[in-house]
Amino acid sequence: MYEFILSVMEEAARLMLSAHDIDAAVTVKPGDANFVTAYDVAVEDYLYRELGKRLPEAVFIGEESSENHTELLASSLALIIDPIDGTTNFIHNYRYSAISVGVCDHGRMAFGAVYNPYDCRLFHAEAGQGAYVRDTRTGRDLPIHVSARALHDSLAGFGTSPYYREELAEPTFRAVSSLFRMTRDVRRCGSAALDLCMVACGTLDVFIEYRLSPWDVAAGTLIVSEAGGLVTRMDGSPVTFDAPGSILAGSPLSHREVLDSGIL
Ligand code: IPD
Ligand code: CA
Ligand code: CA
Repeated sequence: MYEFILSVMEEAARLMLSAHDIDAAVTVKPGDANFVTAYDVAVEDYLYRELGKRLPEAVFIGEESSENHTELLASSLALIIDPIDGTTNFIHNYRYSAISVGVCDHGRMAFGAVYNPYDCRLFHAEAGQGAYVRDTRTGRDLPIHVSARALHDSLAGFGTSPYYREELAEPTFRAVSSLFRMTRDVRRCGSAALDLCMVACGTLDVFIEYRLSPWDVAAGTLIVSEAGGLVTRMDGSPVTFDAPGSILAGSPLSHREVLDSGIL
């Protein structure tokens, strides 16, 4: 079944790659700079239709859907989907955007996959089976693991919570200023789902963002933990997928150092 999900994601990515004249396809949702394109909607529709054929019992929790059954998470098989994570990058042709699909079985993540079709990297993990990256040009899987660097040697990623900028710009950039002093450097790449995968494969050592939605992080959270890392809220409490919240992800070493530093 999980191979089937990966193949549907690869097909859906063709819609992303076929994009042209994206500016004309943009509309703004209510809220701060919350953009959606016709492609976000088309990818989500495609995933719902194709995955729904094979998993008719599943409930869908998707960013662009009007029905979001978060109240059913604990009692069902749920597909948590971000059709395009990194929509602003997508609009600007930044080539760092991904399709994210998580399978949550009665409240527990069972499977997660994040696909960046621009570099053909398909990250995936099944609970208890480790995390992998597939090169979709060859179909080869390689195991991935978080880094072992100490924080002062690390590269830290962050997100700006752009849809809540009035409220969160101040704490975000205060924390980033501290992180910048504590690490080699910081990066803001523009897709939380991929940023988590960058932690999982040891490129980033730590990642923070003050508010993310369940579909931004469901798949990536499992991929990080299966790669040996930790993902929690910024106060160290567990991540749940029923509401937006903060994220602190990293190797066990960096996660601990950031949590203990008191910068968040
Ligand atoms: C956004 C991206 C971005 C993060 C935002 C998310 P979207 O998702 O993950 O990196 O900073 O908080 O909302 O809107 O592009 O799907
Ligand atoms: Ca997103
Ligand atoms: Ca999205």
